[in-house]
Amino acid sequence: MKRLTGNELRKIWLDFFQNKKHAVIGSASLIPENDPTVLFTTAGMHPLVPYLLGAKHPSGTRLCNIQKCVRTGDIDEVGDATHLTFFEMMGNWSLGDYFKDEMISWSFEFLTSSDYLGIDKDNLAVSVFEGDEDAPKDEESAKIWENCGIKRENIFYLPKKNNWWGPAGLTGPCGPDTEMFIDTGKPKCSPECSPACDCGKYVEIWNDVFMQYFKDADGKFSPLSQKNVDTGMGLERTLCFLQGKKSVYEGEYLKAFRIVGDHIRTSVFILGDQRGVTPSNVDQGYVLRRLIRRAIRYGRMLELSAKSLTEIADVIIEQYKDVYTELSDNADKIKRELELETERFERTLNTGLKEFERTVRNLDGNIIDGPSAFRLYDTYGFPLEMTQELAKEQGLEVDEKGFEQAFANHQAKSQSGAEQRFKGGLADSGEETTKLHTATHLLQAALRKVLGEEVFQRGSNITAERLRFDFSFGRKVEKPELEQVEKMVNDVIEKDLPVKMEEMTVEQAKQSGAMGIFESRYGEKVKVYSIGDFSKEICGGPHAKHTGELGKFKIQKEESSSAGVRRIKAVLEK
Ligand code: ALA
Repeated sequence: MKRLTGNELRKIWLDFFQNKKHAVIGSASLIPENDPTVLFTTAGMHPLVPYLLGAKHPSGTRLCNIQKCVRTGDIDEVGDATHLTFFEMMGNWSLGDYFKDEMISWSFEFLTSSDYLGIDKDNLAVSVFEGDEDAPKDEESAKIWENCGIKRENIFYLPKKNNWWGPAGLTGPCGPDTEMFIDTGKPKCSPECSPACDCGKYVEIWNDVFMQYFKDADGKFSPLSQKNVDTGMGLERTLCFLQGKKSVYEGEYLKAFRIVGDHIRTSVFILGDQRGVTPSNVDQGYVLRRLIRRAIRYGRMLELSAKSLTEIADVIIEQYKDVYTELSDNADKIKRELELETERFERTLNTGLKEFERTVRNLDGNIIDGPSAFRLYDTYGFPLEMTQELAKEQGLEVDEKGFEQAFANHQAKSQSGAEQRFKGGLADSGEETTKLHTATHLLQAALRKVLGEEVFQRGSNITAERLRFDFSFGRKVEKPELEQVEKMVNDVIEKDLPVKMEEMTVEQAKQSGAMGIFESRYGEKVKVYSIGDFSKEICGGPHAKHTGELGKFKIQKEESSSAGVRRIKAVLEK
């Protein structure tokens, strides 16, 4: 086994695939360009979706790279041995070129050859897809692994839950995969122990996905026009194993240190990204704000001064600037924004903490009510999860539903521009606006049915008089298409369908095929509004009770909004 540094590992990855005729492509932005269903790029395949679907890539059919990724779904696990909110994914792709034979033998070669990682093959285990109604058992991959020299007892057949990857957003390319694990040599925890088990015997390092299906909004799988390969190896985890470390965090064992390090690193990459974002109350900006404020809070527990955060940022920029030149290009901006956000937060943090203590002192029972949590958010800038964490430290809970209710009440009153887009943008819950919100859901569903699934909401603005809806689409929408959309919406209105609301976890919402942004903002539950089987969207509400209330839907204008984005203005006539 080779004890490689980060730079060495990046280099041999790219060399290996260049030798196999792959073109090296750069890391795409952390902010996805074509997929508003997710806030950040979460895998190397994400920016390549159009090419996996058949578009021609300018660099050919064999690609490799190292992609910046952000995943905040497991933020509570950050600080254990393996979880990070920012990581680098080494990947390679076949766009309708080679398939299982080549990919599995190359994976074996890269992992075991002494020119590359030099891992003993008997310390490896692999899993393959066991088959179900959507795709057959992957005996082909198992056979190839066996021919390479992996012992049969180290090849595991696992179900979709473990051995299927994608789509990255709501719909898109996906397929069965074969995953590679280090067998750490620990004894099996039970006779059934397998890589599906989290006892720590098996640590995943690489995933080869055989992307040959498309998952649509109804959750159905159909074959893609080409068979692709998409692979991803986590740089930090692999290095940790190669260097014989116990954790991706070297040195400090205190979880708070790790959280500060992780969150500042991720913030540096988001602030310094080629499509850079600044802290705000919406979308990526809000995730960034949460990361910075969480780092500040843990930093205070360690008695780090506010200045140390920018010093940490300096170290990170220095470490990564040769690989990610955007960090040195944007170094001033990164540090300035970190300082500004720290100042904003510090201004209210102490009084906020006092307010929190006062709330706790006056508490009857062990649940902090929604309006109090909202006050901490609104007046002192405490993200909900920060109040939740502070509460947990004292064995208390926060009434999350009550928080959301207080939030919605506030939004209904607020005219503040910045808050209009926060959580669905329902700044006004008047009757006309409410109807137009429901009409917007119908409009998005109809556009997707008429123009195809590349249509996604890119923005919306609603007043009591009209709706304005921006969506991704590459050309002008022709008159007959607009007429068809209008008719479809009016047909649903005439049917007087009920508008149904259900609360569910983000994961369930995603499974159910709901449209929307799948970054969980307030922990678990989201509201999903369905209108017959015509439309299903995550949304903060409120909405009309029945479509019949809406009146007649009329499109007034269709125009370009920005590159690849169209804008429709529409009204409801009585
Ligand atoms: N896209 C695959 C993953 O993220 C390789 O695991």
